[in-house]
Amino acid sequence: MPRFSSRVEQISISGIREVFESAGEDAINLGIGQPDFPTPEHASQAAIDAIEAGQVDGYTSNKGIPALREAIATKHERDNGFTVDPSNVIATAGGSEALHLALEAHVERGQEVIFPDPGFVSYEALTHLAGGTPKPIGLREDLTMDPAAVEEAITEDTAAFVVCSPANPTGAVQRKEDMREFARIADTHDVLCLTDEVYEQIVFEGDHYSPMQFAETDSVVLVNACSKTYSMTGWRLGWVTASHERIERMLRVHQYAQACASAPAQYAGEAALTGPQRVVDQMVEAFEERRDILLDGLDDIGLETPTPKGAFYAMPKVPDGWVEEVIDRDVIVVPGEAFGERGSGHARISYATNQEMIKEALERMAEATRVVQ
Ligand SMILES: Cc1ncc(COP(=O)(O)O)c(C=O)c1O
Repeated sequence: MPRFSSRVEQISISGIREVFESAGEDAINLGIGQPDFPTPEHASQAAIDAIEAGQVDGYTSNKGIPALREAIATKHERDNGFTVDPSNVIATAGGSEALHLALEAHVERGQEVIFPDPGFVSYEALTHLAGGTPKPIGLREDLTMDPAAVEEAITEDTAAFVVCSPANPTGAVQRKEDMREFARIADTHDVLCLTDEVYEQIVFEGDHYSPMQFAETDSVVLVNACSKTYSMTGWRLGWVTASHERIERMLRVHQYAQACASAPAQYAGEAALTGPQRVVDQMVEAFEERRDILLDGLDDIGLETPTPKGAFYAMPKVPDGWVEEVIDRDVIVVPGEAFGERGSGHARISYATNQEMIKEALERMAEATRVVQ
């Protein structure tokens, strides 16, 4: 019988994957967290050109190619209102690796990590892998995270708190005042604010703000990726931005676990970040139309759903047995408890699929609702 580390025994295969793998081939998949659009052609072409020019046959620098890190630094200045040197960026294998680096480098055994509940599945699992103690906290009625609740949860054992906006699984977008508060809390309590901004560009109402633009010390580590913004989930390209000291510690983990992000993906990512951004606007417009169809449909069915202001998820309250009835009708949605205890009684519905599918899924959801009510 093989023996395993207690850290790995504390985590299990993500609830999302389980739903996925139980799905029939013809099922309508509203469980998936990736855009259904192709990667922009100019991004793919940049990777093809780099391959043909023989630029991707070897390792890149551990931090990533300079042109990509410059593109990321320019992007922060353009979109996020702060300046960083390209040396403050590590290109990673998706946002996932970036989150992993941040927690590995900052969490001491037994230290607490505060994160939203319901929240993205990786926060709890990566906290366990780092040897830390997960400390999920509840959300406001509108499903945003309350800075006051974070501040209250901080103890002398707290290493970090995670902010995710726009959020998976709720679609909630934090307000500017909240982000300013998160920065203040991190600055004054000497606790890391880990901000996960992978859905940054997918905002329908209001604007995206980053705690990093408000922080007065180096208390924030920012994670982002090309995955959702440019429909590049398969390329596996993300990054982490932080102070020199923090980057140096995260680089220690990155160089042994990963060496460097995939070279073709780095060239594609650079082209995506520096190329025309109209493709992103078009995708966001399509998501907004789908969101409205979904929200109207859920409302007609009688399911209460806080209006998601970003990302591509909605999280209605659902009656007992609803998720199972919906899945029985070959529509894949994810039970809320996959995202934490407080997610129970909800379902996460991804609308990263076309309008016809969403309308068909709504009909089946209406039927399922009649059965369980
Ligand atoms: C909130 C959030 N953060 C990070 C990630 C990881 O993204 P990536 O595919 O870039 O690893 C996801 C993916 O679903 C996500 O929803």
